[in-house]
Amino acid sequence: MKKGLRSRLAQYGDEDFALFLRRGFLKGAGFTDDALERPIVGVLSTASDFNPCHATAARLAEAVARGVRMAGALPFVFPTVSLHEAFTFPTSMLLRNLMAMDVEEMLRALPLDAAVLIGGCDKTIPAELMGAVSANVPAIALPVGAMLAGRHEGARLGACTDCRRLWAAYRAGKLDEQDLNRAHDQLMPTAGTCMVMGTASTMACLAETLGFTMPGAATAPAVSSERTRIAEATGARAAAMAVAGGPKPRDILSPAALRNASVVLQATSGSTNALVHLAAIAGRAGITYDLAEFDRVGRDVPVLVNLKPAGAHFIEDFHASGGIPALWRRLRDKLDLTARTVGGETLGDVLTRWPTYSDDDVIRPLDRPIFPREAIAVLTGNLAPKGAAIKLASATAKLCTHEGPALVFDSLEDLANRIDDPTLRVTPDHCLVLRNAGPIGAPGMPEAGALPIPKQLGQKGVTDMVRISDARMSGTAFGTVVLHVTPEAAAGGPLALVRDGDPIRLDAPARRLDILVDDAELQRRRAAWKPPAKPRRGYTKLYVERVTQADQGCDFDFLMGTDPSTA
Ligand code: FES
Repeated sequence: MKKGLRSRLAQYGDEDFALFLRRGFLKGAGFTDDALERPIVGVLSTASDFNPCHATAARLAEAVARGVRMAGALPFVFPTVSLHEAFTFPTSMLLRNLMAMDVEEMLRALPLDAAVLIGGCDKTIPAELMGAVSANVPAIALPVGAMLAGRHEGARLGACTDCRRLWAAYRAGKLDEQDLNRAHDQLMPTAGTCMVMGTASTMACLAETLGFTMPGAATAPAVSSERTRIAEATGARAAAMAVAGGPKPRDILSPAALRNASVVLQATSGSTNALVHLAAIAGRAGITYDLAEFDRVGRDVPVLVNLKPAGAHFIEDFHASGGIPALWRRLRDKLDLTARTVGGETLGDVLTRWPTYSDDDVIRPLDRPIFPREAIAVLTGNLAPKGAAIKLASATAKLCTHEGPALVFDSLEDLANRIDDPTLRVTPDHCLVLRNAGPIGAPGMPEAGALPIPKQLGQKGVTDMVRISDARMSGTAFGTVVLHVTPEAAAGGPLALVRDGDPIRLDAPARRLDILVDDAELQRRRAAWKPPAKPRRGYTKLYVERVTQADQGCDFDFLMGTDPSTA
């Protein structure tokens, strides 16, 4: 296979001319003949002024490039789609597959021998891994790293768990605007991704556990010199991978690696979003990420990592306590330590050289977990025949077994219009149901599943209720929230048939979610159901026509599985 500049020549029908032209343009950019003979590492930069979580990405790309050059290869930094949670209308999840296609196609199109994937904010690492697994080019992930924690009036604050807590207090009238604004200045005190165990940190931790990063890369703070040194080492390793031609993503992504990721997802009380992303990443390699298997694995794994929102600390504390390899050490009997990493080692090899220090309050021993059971459970039942998820570690224990009448919101707009209406007939026993907020219905399955507590109840001190939807939830959120109900309402799932007042039973210990309405009545309602109108043009049309349901990762059906030409 041709390497470096000789690879993937533009098709003019004359390969020598194509290379002559390519080299000519680079000479015009000031490259010498020596440089043009080197292996090439593509550095995917997700730097964007619209992505403040990636404010350090350009500097990291420089450090990666330095490492590539030190190892004798040639770095080429290039941009890809970059997605920030708070800057992407209507939701970044709608565009995750677009970013994955961008990454896949550029990795296939450009003359590179290996790639470094710089990502971080929630959807970016999943999109990059999806694209890299499909292109199957040697690739190594580099998370941008998390922010440092903020400090405010004697307390440490973290985005976005404390954003949500403070906003809820403000809505309930317990915090005035001045106090809210003072705290606001400290919620995101540095560049980097959210510094609690939200989706960004979860996916960074899972990328490291899957073997796609250098050790320690998931947790070093964004603004630390260690992060920059990891970037340099990542560049040097990518150069070696460019020369060796591997390992490739599908050499790394195995069923054992995915099982390890399930264990770490539970032990970190990571984001429920990871279920969707892991299914999508696995699907690109033709591997089914089985939610029932995830649930089975989880029953043996308590929450050990004491980070917000389930616990007390922040990513910087996790890192100072040894980070992901230190967690692997605690979980060693539950992990397959023979799984490979891009560094050429196994997880077990990393452990033998990793410092043994660990803070027992941040990474708890197995006999002193912060939550004694699995963090996330997978439910099924007549309301969710293909599954739903609940984060037990962030839920109110007594609400995890609950029966109450449904109060249905038909859409995000309906929710926004009515949730704070003082005439809304709602009690703390109601199950708030949001539908048409799934992959097709919204579209893009936004993080709207943690429905706000109706203002009239919040002002009376109600802080949690059972909430059920086909949407997702931010990893930084909390509450008794049932998510990813599959099939979604817009695909004709039973959620579409629920009416106000229908009794709903949540029995999380028994893994059940049921609507207590007889089948004949549900059949009558189904006969009257009509699917919602679909978008008529552009990417959104493609999305709603080809997106899979949450249990399959919300990927496009035509991107799942492997292409034999890239095996
Ligand atoms: Fe970017 Fe939280 S918004 S990681």
